[in-house]
Amino acid sequence: MANNSQITSVLRETRTFAPNPTFSRTAHVGSMDQYRRLWESAKDDLAGFWAEQAKDLAWFKTWHTTLEWKAPHAKWFEGGLINASYNCLDRHLIAGQNNKAALIWEGEPGDTRTLTYQMLHREVCKFANGLKRLGVAKGDTITIYMPLVPELVIAMLACARLGAVHSVIFGGFSPEAVADRNNDSKSRILITADGGWRRGKTVPLKANVDLAMEKSLTIEKVIVLRRTGQDIVMKPGRDLWWHDLTAGLGGDCPAEPLDSEHPLFILYTSGSTGKPKGIYHTTGGYLLGAQYTHKLVFDIKPDDVYWCTADAGWITGHTYLVYGPLANATTIVMYEGAPNHPSEDRFWEIIAKYGVTVFYTAPTAIRAFMKWGDQHPKRHDLSSLRLLGSVGEPINPEAWMWYHETIGGGRCPIVDTWWQTETGAIMIAPLPGAVTTKPGSATFPLPGIVIDIVDKDGKTVGTNEGGFLVVTKPWPSMLRTLYRDDERYQKTYWDQHPGIYFTADGARRDEDGYIWIMGRVDDVLNVSGHRLSTMEVESALVQHKAVAEVAVVGKPDDLKGEGISCFVTLKTGIEATDVLKAELRDFVVQVIGALARPDEIRFTESLPKTRSGKIMRRLLRDIASGHQITGDTSTLEDYSILANLRSDQE
Ligand code: PRX
Repeated sequence: MANNSQITSVLRETRTFAPNPTFSRTAHVGSMDQYRRLWESAKDDLAGFWAEQAKDLAWFKTWHTTLEWKAPHAKWFEGGLINASYNCLDRHLIAGQNNKAALIWEGEPGDTRTLTYQMLHREVCKFANGLKRLGVAKGDTITIYMPLVPELVIAMLACARLGAVHSVIFGGFSPEAVADRNNDSKSRILITADGGWRRGKTVPLKANVDLAMEKSLTIEKVIVLRRTGQDIVMKPGRDLWWHDLTAGLGGDCPAEPLDSEHPLFILYTSGSTGKPKGIYHTTGGYLLGAQYTHKLVFDIKPDDVYWCTADAGWITGHTYLVYGPLANATTIVMYEGAPNHPSEDRFWEIIAKYGVTVFYTAPTAIRAFMKWGDQHPKRHDLSSLRLLGSVGEPINPEAWMWYHETIGGGRCPIVDTWWQTETGAIMIAPLPGAVTTKPGSATFPLPGIVIDIVDKDGKTVGTNEGGFLVVTKPWPSMLRTLYRDDERYQKTYWDQHPGIYFTADGARRDEDGYIWIMGRVDDVLNVSGHRLSTMEVESALVQHKAVAEVAVVGKPDDLKGEGISCFVTLKTGIEATDVLKAELRDFVVQVIGALARPDEIRFTESLPKTRSGKIMRRLLRDIASGHQITGDTSTLEDYSILANLRSDQE
C-alpha cells in the first residue's frame, strides 16, 4: 500500500455530455434532482432504503432485520427466505413471461440457440434434478469450468436452486489453477465440457480437468457436457455425461427457500501476489445489488436486448450476464468466442443481427477495436444501440470518445461503471438519464452507496487531490468474507481505516464532485516526491495519433526515486522509430508537464495481460528494472509476450 498520503493528479478533461432529454423522459431516474434526492434519502436511512428496494425481489418469507452491522461483518435481510434461481426464472413464468427470450446464444463457429424463460426454467430444473441424483444438497460446493455456453448459466442457476454454492473458474485457467481452487473450496463435483471454441481452435477443457484431478483432493464426480465433440477420455465411476445424467428427468424441481445469508457463490480473484482470494457472496443482498444496479445503471426496459461481453467466469459475468439481467427478466445475448474470429467485426455483426440495445464491455476490448480500425464497425448497422457500458479498468478519455462516436453514433450515453469482485455490484456510475458525463469519470456513487476519498489517516482529501477510495457504509452486495480466511479478509480490506472498506484504488473528486478513478494504489509512481497515477500518464500517451495502447510503470531511479517507463503498442501500420520515441516523450510533457517526462519508451507488439484483460504491470515493472520475473504468472494470457519484451530491451 502507498505510504504517502496524497497522489498528485494531473489529468484534466473538460468535455461534458448532458443526457439526451428524450432518453431522460423515459429513464428510471430522469434528472439530477431526482438522483440527488434518492442519494440523500438513502444516505440518511440506509437500511430503510435497501428494505424498500428489496421489495423488487420475490421472498418466500420477509426478513425481520434489514441490516446487522458488526464491522467488518454484515448480515442483510436476516430472517428472510429467498432463492436466486426462483427470482431469475419462476417468478417470470408466474408473471406470464414464459415465451420471452431469456438467452440468445451464439457459438463461435456460428451455431445459435435461443432459450425462452420457460425453456431455461425447464433445463435448470432438469439439471438440478440431475445434481440431486448425485446427492448434491444445500451447502455443497460445486466447481464449474466451462466454455461460455447456455449450460454454464444452467449449471449456475441449478446450483442456486438447490442452495449449492458455485465456484466458477474461467475456462482459460490452467489445470494447476483449477486444482488449487478445487482444494480451497473443497468442491465435491466439477462440471465441465469436452472443450470450447476459441479463435477457431478447441480449448481442451476436459483434458485440463484430467490433469487437475490428479491434485484435486475432494472432487468425487465430473459431469461433462458435449460441446465440441473432440476426443476425450471418460474415467469410469468418476466421469459422467451431462446428457446421461439428465436423461429422463422431469422439468420440475422446486426452488429451495434459503436464508438470505446463505452462500450463493465463491469466486476466486488472483491477488497481485500469493494465493487467490475466495470472495464469498451470499444470496439476498447480492441478488438485490445485482438486480437494482442492473435496472438503474443500464436503465433496463422490458424490450431491451442486452449484451454483456464478459465471461461468466468473472464477477462481471456473474452479476451482469446472469443474476442481474435474469432477475430483471431481460433478454440476454451471449457469445462463446473471440471478438476477432473469424474477423475483427464479429461483435458488430452480432449487435446488428440481434438488434442489441445495451452493450457492456471492457476498455481493453475497446482499445483493441480502436487498433483494428473503424472500418469494422462501419460495415454494420449499429442503430439499435441505445446505451453503452464500460467496466474493469479506467477508460481513457480517448477510448471513451471513440466508443461514443464510432460505436454509439454520438447518441448513446456511456456508463463507466466502477466496482470490484468484492463489491458484487456497481458502486459508482452515472445514471444515464440523470447525470452529465465527462469522458473518463465514473461520476457519482449510486443511491445507497456511501464513499469517500481519504488520505492515509482517513481524512477526506480536498478537491482535485488524489487519495484512497473507500466505502464508508455497508452495502447489500458486499463480500461477507474471504472463504475460510476471515483474518485475511480483515487485513486486506478493513485494517487501513478501521470500520471503512479499503478498495485499494486511488481516486480524486473534481470541482463538480465527479469521481475520477486513478487505478490501483500499487500502480502509483513516486517521481521526485510526486505521487503520479500511471493511468494518467497512459491516458496522456494514448491521445497521440500513433498510439494504440500503453502501460506505464515505475523503474528505480537514483535521482528521482522512480523513473517513468512506458510500454507502447502502436496502431497498425505505424513504424516504430527513435524519432517517434522522442516525439512521444515531448507529447507527454505537453499534455501533463515536465514532471511526467518518460524516461524510456519501449515499443511492443502487445502487452502482458491477465485473462480478464488487465495489464500485468507487476511483470512490466520487473522487466523495466531489469529484474527476473518473480511471482505468480498463472493468470497471464500469453506467455510469448514476456519473452518478446525481454529480448527487446533497450
Ligand atoms: O481497479 C479497479 C478496476 O478493477 C478493479 C476490480 O477488479 P475486479 O475485481 O477484477 O472486477 C472487475 C469488474 C468489476 C477495481 O478495483 N476497475 C473496475 N472498474 C473500473 C475500474 N477502474 C476504473 N474505472 C472503472 N470503471
